[in-house]
Amino acid sequence: MNNSSFETELRSRIRDTEAIVVRYLPEETGYNRTVLRAMNYAVRAGGKRLRPLLMRETYHLFCPEEGEALYRFMAAIEMIHTYSLIHDDLPALDNDDYRRGRKTTHLVFGEDMAILAGDGLLNYAFEVAAGAFRLAEPGLARVGRAMETLAAKPGIYGMIGGQTADVELTGKEMTLEQLQYIHEHKTGALIECAMMVGAILGGASEEQIRTAEAAASKIGMAFQIQDDILDVTATEETLGKPVRSDEKNQKVTYVTFMGMERAARDVRELSSEAVSLLESLGGENGFLIALTDHLTRRDR
Ligand code: IPE
Ligand code: IPE
Ligand code: MG
Ligand code: MG
Ligand code: MG
Repeated sequence: MNNSSFETELRSRIRDTEAIVVRYLPEETGYNRTVLRAMNYAVRAGGKRLRPLLMRETYHLFCPEEGEALYRFMAAIEMIHTYSLIHDDLPALDNDDYRRGRKTTHLVFGEDMAILAGDGLLNYAFEVAAGAFRLAEPGLARVGRAMETLAAKPGIYGMIGGQTADVELTGKEMTLEQLQYIHEHKTGALIECAMMVGAILGGASEEQIRTAEAAASKIGMAFQIQDDILDVTATEETLGKPVRSDEKNQKVTYVTFMGMERAARDVRELSSEAVSLLESLGGENGFLIALTDHLTRRDR
């Protein structure tokens, strides 16, 4: 696939993903509508939709036909990701004013509603995903395993663990091992979640699920290193969020720890390791491999 046909294809797949995600958003009615509006504001702001996209592509390595279960989990993971962004931007965490090209949720709806909107998205994600138990396909065992993964990876041993260490070690000296823990957990865990759920729902074997997890772990690490790079090199207009947020918060990042050159090299290396793992899975992996490669060149 050449570059321009990949870009066209990517845009079209992001649009499809977007349509699937918004289908499951709540209607903004009732005395609780402020929280519903805040939830929808954050999700509808856009974003790369990378996690549901990766979930869908990984599913397709194992199964050609899509169903409602996949769609529910795609919406659920984007809701969980969006909740993590709302909370990450709060004054108590990174205290950022822009996200996805708009004012952050707490600036528009207040801190109280932003906290509740994050809680709301997390809970609602599980309500939407659990609807898959009532479907005939892909069966209780797969949906159960996917639910377990959807609960675990964003949780205390996953994303929340990473955010905890990130917050606690802010402004402090840290070891490479601690930095890797932060990146693997705050960002890697959700990407692992996305690709594992895709593999599970698509009917992958245990070994294939582990390979998808390993590939995702490398993609996630590369993705967060690139996020640290863009925090220094990008512009706010392109990125849709503030640049130099890490410097403002005195964060140790992969760039401050390793230097820009080494960071950029590691993004490429991790991605090519991920590609080798994806190649070993076989199936319709052309787009997924091109996407992995594209992420090393992303500017937003
Ligand atoms: C931002 O994630 C938070 C990180 C884990 C680096 P994305 O860069 O995927 O954000 P959106 O979804 O495109 O807004
Ligand atoms: C955020 O890491 C990871 C999560 C939201 C879980 P960052 O704090 O670096 O993400 P950005 O740069 O604000 O998107
Ligand atoms: Mg943060
Ligand atoms: Mg942040
Ligand atoms: Mg960042």
